[in-house]
Order: sequence, then C-alpha cells, then structure tokens
Amino acid sequence: MSKKPVKYDDDPNTTGHSWDGIEEFDNPMPRWWLWTLYLCIIWAIGYSIAYPAWPMIHSATAGILGWSSRGEVTEQIAAVEEGNASINTQLVEVALTSIADNAELDTYAVSAGGAVFRTWCAQCHGSGAAGAKGYPNLLDDDWLWGGDIEAIYTTIAHGIRNEDDDDARYSEMPAFGRDEILEPEQVDEVVNYVMSLSGTPQDASKVAAGAQVFVDNCVACHGEDGTGDREQGAPNLTDAIWLYGGDYEALTQTVTYSRFGVMPPWSNRLSEAQIRAVATYVHQLGGGE
Ligand code: HEC
Ligand code: HEC
Repeated sequence: MSKKPVKYDDDPNTTGHSWDGIEEFDNPMPRWWLWTLYLCIIWAIGYSIAYPAWPMIHSATAGILGWSSRGEVTEQIAAVEEGNASINTQLVEVALTSIADNAELDTYAVSAGGAVFRTWCAQCHGSGAAGAKGYPNLLDDDWLWGGDIEAIYTTIAHGIRNEDDDDARYSEMPAFGRDEILEPEQVDEVVNYVMSLSGTPQDASKVAAGAQVFVDNCVACHGEDGTGDREQGAPNLTDAIWLYGGDYEALTQTVTYSRFGVMPPWSNRLSEAQIRAVATYVHQLGGGE
C-alpha cells in the first residue's frame, strides 16, 4: 500500500524524483560550496598553463614556467657542488698525507668519502666495509696492497687485476694443481704447512715436507716466513685472516686453482676529489697506517 508523502507549507519545491514515497527537495547548492568549486576550476586552469600538466605521447605539456622535477634536482645538485667547490679544490690540491692535518678538510673528506663508499664500494666490500669471502675487510690492519693513504689511493684509483687500467695492481698466483706444477701429495703437504703457520690444527706428519714445497714454490711471493708481500698483493699466511678461507678444503682449492681477485678502477668513474675522499674514508676506518 503506497502512502502519499506528508506535505508542509514551507517545504521547498521537489525535483520530482520519488523513491518509495521519499521525495528529493530542490535546494540550491550552498554558496560557499559553489565558490569553492569555481575557485578550484580557475586554479586548475592556471596551474595547467603554468606547470607541466596534460599527458602527451612522450611527455607532458611543459608549462610556461618551464619547471621540472628533474630540473629542480639538477639545480639542487649544482648548488651543493658550488657550495663544495672550494673545499673540493683544496682536497685535490693538498698532499694526500696532509689531509688528516686539516680538521675541517678531514671531516669533509670522511663524510663525502662515506657517501661514495656506500654508493660504489659497499656492494663488494659490505656496507660496513667488513668484506666477504674474496672481498677484503677494510676495517682491519691486514692489507694486501698497503694501508697508508697513498697505497690505498693507488688501489682505488687504478683497481686490481682489471683490464681497464694499465696501472692496475697486478699479480697472479700460479694454479699449482690444475697446471700440474705440484703433485696432489705436494699440495696436500704444503696446505698442511700453511695451516701450521697460523696455528690451525693440521696433520703434523706432513708439515716438514710441506715446508720444503713452500720454500721451493711459494716464498718468492709470500716470503720466507709466509708473511706475504704487498708489492705483489700476496697475503700474509700467518695471521689467520683469510681472504678465501683457512680450512683444509679452501686452502686446497686456492693452491690447486689459485685465485684472481679483481677490482675495477675508479679514476674513470669518480672525480679526483671523490677518490681522495673515499681513500681518506677507508684510511680512517681503523686499519690505516
Ligand atoms: C666489484 C667488486 C669491488 C668493488 C665495487 C670495489 N672493490 Fe675494492 N676490492 C675488490 C677485490 C676483489 C679486492 C681484493 C683484490 C685482491 O685479491 O687483491 C679489493 C681490494 C680493495 C682494497 C685493497 C685492500 C688491501 O688489503 O690492500 C681497497 C683499499 C679497496 N678494495 C677499496 C675499494 C673502494 C674504496 C671501492 C669503491 C670506490 C671499492 N674497493 C670497490 C673488489 C671490489
Ligand atoms: C706469483 C706469486 C705467488 C706465488 C708463487 C704463490 N702465491 Fe699464493 N697468492 C699470491 C697472490 C697474489 C694471492 C692473492 C690472490 C687474490 O687475492 O686473488 C695469493 C693467495 C694465496 C692464498 C690465499 C690466502 C687467503 O687469505 O685466502 C694462499 C693460501 C696461498 N696464496 C698459498 C700459496 C702457496 C701454498 C703457494 C706455493 C705453493 C703460493 N701461494 C704461491 C701470490 C703467489
């Protein structure tokens, strides 16, 4: 049964819509609402003329102000670079060894170098520079190629065993097993001798024979006492700090096939100031000499 809606005298007109007897009043829009709408429309037209707005096939309309988020970033970078220009010039001109004497320059180099490190070096050396298998720890004072600021700088600028830089540090340990320079028993003996150097438990009956193999084959690079040679990036074998592992299997692998750690050069990718900054950063990490 349908009911007629109740009508009062002061009711506004209705729109004529009716749902189950409920009718819709034809009230005008509130004025404040309408004005807000008009202002939004005007603002949107102004905005789309001034700023990039309408999507086109390859980009959007440019807008008469010529603003772009990319341009804004470029400007900010340029401003930072301009702000740092004089300290970067100073960093490039001063002797590497005297960066640490100038507190302001040193602080700047360490923080700028830390940023370079996190961007370019952390993927191999770890974000905290503690390294990983095959990637040296840069926090300790065990250096393959030298730990004074100049040696660190050279390593970073030219890299290690890469083909992109003629001044890259280079050396190559022979693959004693694979290339049949040593018999498998000799590899076994010398590995046990190497383990004895750092006090790692080993088969003591093989150490004497291994010592002879070592004298005949290894001392030219690792030194008579096994402490290594930085000229050739030959690691110290006596300190129980291992780049590739110090257990029997890892050492056998190293002596049989050798290793060939490669680091890219950075002089073609980073500015002189950036290389000096990151060298300063690495130097102050704990092991700098
Ligand atoms: C692609 C990986 C890789 C990247 C990226 C890399 N390194 Fe290396 N880095 C190595 C390897 C591998 C070695 C060890 C090579 C060897 O066995 O002699 C090394 C060695 C070093 C050494 C010598 C350590 C020593 O004991 O003498 C320093 C210093 C160094 N890296 C600093 C850096 C800095 C600074 C960066 C960033 C600008 C960087 N590395 C980026 C792989 C990398
Ligand atoms: C021509 C020089 C050279 C000779 C000879 C040589 N080595 Fe090496 N050795 C190196 C270099 C360089 C490395 C580092 C390789 C790398 O970082 O990729 C190395 C690395 C090692 C390592 C790895 C150390 C670690 O921290 O993981 C061991 C172990 C080792 N050598 C043992 C020997 C033994 C044993 C012999 C003799 C049978 C020998 N080497 C002969 C140059 C040499």
